Amino acid sequence: MHLSRTLFAAAFMIATLFSTAQAQDADTERAIERYRQMLKEDPWSNPGLLDADRGEDLWKAKRGPKAVSLEQCDLGKGAGVVDGAFAELPRYFADADKVMDVETRILWCMEKLQGFERAALVRRPHPGGGQPVRELGALATYVASKSSGMKFAAKLDQPKERETVALGETLFMRRSGPFDFACASCHAESGRRIRLQGLPFLSDPEAARKVVGEWPAYRVSSTHVMTMQHRMFDCYWQMRMPELELGSDVSVALISYLAKKAEGGEIAAPGLKR
Ligand code: HEC
Repeated sequence: MHLSRTLFAAAFMIATLFSTAQAQDADTERAIERYRQMLKEDPWSNPGLLDADRGEDLWKAKRGPKAVSLEQCDLGKGAGVVDGAFAELPRYFADADKVMDVETRILWCMEKLQGFERAALVRRPHPGGGQPVRELGALATYVASKSSGMKFAAKLDQPKERETVALGETLFMRRSGPFDFACASCHAESGRRIRLQGLPFLSDPEAARKVVGEWPAYRVSSTHVMTMQHRMFDCYWQMRMPELELGSDVSVALISYLAKKAEGGEIAAPGLKR
């Protein structure tokens, strides 16, 4: 009798705590949403635009051992065409015989046109908290911003492209690594969250269309622009998988899979994330 009353009291307490925690979560979610809304109402308040500008300067500057600009870089719509190029990436490039996302393609141009050393560029390609996005990331932010307002329209219908998307899907769904996580463990259900962070249901086109087009994004909590390659790197790290190399087949496959899911979704880059 005594015991069951105690148990009942404990269960009641837990239930109360639980519902309080849920109510707090909902409050926090609403507050974050309001904050995002305020930032969106004043689009010029997004600090990521400074990196898009920096990227534009870098694109046009004569740089690297060969002292040339990236204005001859073909992002898929012809040498030097930046407008709308991001909306059609990833895609297959015959000159490299590879499917490439925006960052992988810029990396390729920096190597082939400007003479930068690939190994040096991929050694530490992502900024730590508080550091600005690196040059490659600023360039990607610039290129993506030139497709802002357009819709994702990567065809991804050539044999190599289809293979890449299929590999991305397998990687997304398959559990691996010491934690036995798949991307799907965290991103294949609606309403999932870790602490305060909502986990978008990325294999669902409706949800993918909402978020994928916001990358590269200014991430308020780390005060810098984070690119999609960086996002993949971090999620892979959360899975305790081997370090994801920028431009690797695995990174491109995951990004191609996401772009395919987001097909038709609007691009709003640089976006804003918590
Ligand atoms: C252990 C859970 C976990 C796994 C596994 C995981 N992620 Fe994530 N992912 C997160 C979290 C947490 C965030 C949001 C972080 C934040 O809010 O800053 C996130 C964010 C993202 C985003 C950005 C979503 C948005 O809001 O725009 C993408 C895209 C993404 N993950 C893709 C992947 C892919 C692809 C994989 C597999 C390689 C993966 N994730 C594996 C936890 C995970």
